[in-house]
Amino acid sequence: MKPKTAQLGGPCMSRHMEDNLDMTLAELLPRMQHRILSGMTWFGVRVLKCPNDFWMYQEILFERRPDVIVEIGNAYGGSTLALAHLCDLLGHGRVIGVDLSHGGVPDVVRRHPRVRLFEGDACALYGTVRNEVRKGERVLVIEDSSHTFENTLAVLRTYSPLVKPRDYFIVEDSICHHGLSEGPSPGPFEAIEAFVAENPDFEIDRSREAFVVTWNPKGYLRRRDDDSIGGKLRRLGKRLAGE
Ligand SMILES: C[S@@+](CC[C@H](N)C(=O)[O-])C[C@H]1O[C@@H](n2cnc3c(N)ncnc32)[C@H](O)[C@@H]1O
Repeated sequence: MKPKTAQLGGPCMSRHMEDNLDMTLAELLPRMQHRILSGMTWFGVRVLKCPNDFWMYQEILFERRPDVIVEIGNAYGGSTLALAHLCDLLGHGRVIGVDLSHGGVPDVVRRHPRVRLFEGDACALYGTVRNEVRKGERVLVIEDSSHTFENTLAVLRTYSPLVKPRDYFIVEDSICHHGLSEGPSPGPFEAIEAFVAENPDFEIDRSREAFVVTWNPKGYLRRRDDDSIGGKLRRLGKRLAGE
């Protein structure tokens, strides 16, 4: 029989893994979500991120070494600080944070030399962000803002031109109604599907979901390689279609 202990907000069961080996993913995910939302921190600053996904961020950053990371939706700033710390370790890169309000972001994030914050609606601020990116710089975009279908799709359409071939556009929280019964519906998952259906330059890289548990199913978008045969054919097709 499973020991019963104090609750984390989920079903009444022990919080220890070895007592819950028959737990389903459907039971596990809300428990992880509860922990993510109830005081997860990066160097003392609150962050709302599945740790599996942040590990993937680290692998992508190490492989791609972007010059600029644009993080849309910063909340308390813990994820922004974590990205800046990874840039510190790489000795490369800077972080542009965009949020409707940075009122809850502490000085340790604001004053980090690799961080610049801009307040306002992400799509409205696109021109400002683009002006921060120098010619030829490579950009990783992370969309983690309102998670409505309309806004996610608008951010994908607006910011995708910043992403160069083989680089990534990460969309957070496509787990809404695709793993967790919460959040907007339709939401990010459906916005991603709509975006890739209209934009053959991007593909979903499901190898980034290798831990199985991810808050971003289908959320790791990669701009296809322009120099591949497929890329050349796509360019030729566009030229013939007069685009
Ligand atoms: C999920 S939180 C961000 C979490 C953060 N990236 C982390 O991992 O800790 C979402 C944030 O998006 C912001 N937001 C919502 N709609 C936005 C919009 N249209 N433009 C910019 N930011 C927006 C909210 O103010 C909120 O702080």
